[in-house]
Amino acid sequence: MSNKEQTVLTGIKPTGTPHIANYVGALKPLIEQSKTQKTFMFIADLHALNLIHDAKQIRQYTHEIAAMLVALGLNMDNAILFRQSDVEEIYHLNTLLMNVTPKGLMNRAHSYKAAMDKNIANGDDVDAGVNMGLYTYPILMTADILLYDSDIVPVGADQKQHVEFARDIAGYFNKIYGEIFKLPTPVIGRETGLIPGLDGRKMSKSYDNTIPLMAPEKELKKKIMRIITDSKTPEDVKDPDESTIYQLYKHFASEAETAEFAQMFRAGGMGYGTAKTILFEKVNSVLAESRKEYERLMANPAEIEQILAAGAARAKPYAAETLARVKKAMLG
Ligand code: TRP
Repeated sequence: MSNKEQTVLTGIKPTGTPHIANYVGALKPLIEQSKTQKTFMFIADLHALNLIHDAKQIRQYTHEIAAMLVALGLNMDNAILFRQSDVEEIYHLNTLLMNVTPKGLMNRAHSYKAAMDKNIANGDDVDAGVNMGLYTYPILMTADILLYDSDIVPVGADQKQHVEFARDIAGYFNKIYGEIFKLPTPVIGRETGLIPGLDGRKMSKSYDNTIPLMAPEKELKKKIMRIITDSKTPEDVKDPDESTIYQLYKHFASEAETAEFAQMFRAGGMGYGTAKTILFEKVNSVLAESRKEYERLMANPAEIEQILAAGAARAKPYAAETLARVKKAMLG
């Protein structure tokens, strides 16, 4: 789908400490992709602002994500890794795009509609708690995508509408000012299926059931041992597909190991304690080396800042070129 000539761009919002579901769904595919594909990859700190009003926290999450990507083996030649707010052309383009973006388009954004629905259900004013950062979020995301002349934007299904908006807005712009922008295409990543958390529900910060990806070994073990299971005895035969332990294991093990583990569930004779130990050992062995490098980087924030600054310096010429083109078209 994507090849060398096409520009691929992806953004990660720093609103929490990355956990195992983030790894499986987003980080791992990005690492894989970076082996062969040049990608603009940025940490979307400006997109976190409508939710997080604590600079320290945004900086912390930004560093965690950057350090994790590097520690997990991101190919730093192919990936241009930077912090969104470091390339200041983004603010300019965002302002300019405001003027071709229909307000009605923003009214239809899923995330804004969800906020309104919640307010209505609670009997509050429809716009209670909605700031303009949330309302205009899709314009900023459009600016990200168009600033780097992106062809392909790999996203989760929840972000597809935003990329379609970017395409729409680029189209409105081009209709007025001529062929200034490329039209980006969303590419929805391979379905990973639901990644369960400690309580068996979807792993999510909002359910407080996550396993932090880079948790120290002791904490990782403690979390895994706390996975909720049913009351089957060790002797009972078990359906692996119903087990959180197996559902997590398969994302860290080889196919052969996964098949063998499934067989152990089906055969009976393996207690959940044993299954959890096997899961812990697998996850730990996959992550141990990266975790060491992650901890080293987190202890050296200046090094992380250096990595991000180098990425921003690489991204900037592309952004400057686009912004100049847009300003000329709009302002003469
Ligand atoms: N909105 C995306 C998310 O919440 C993050 C993001 C910001 C992004 N800008 C982007 C993703 C541009 C792709 C392209 O996950």
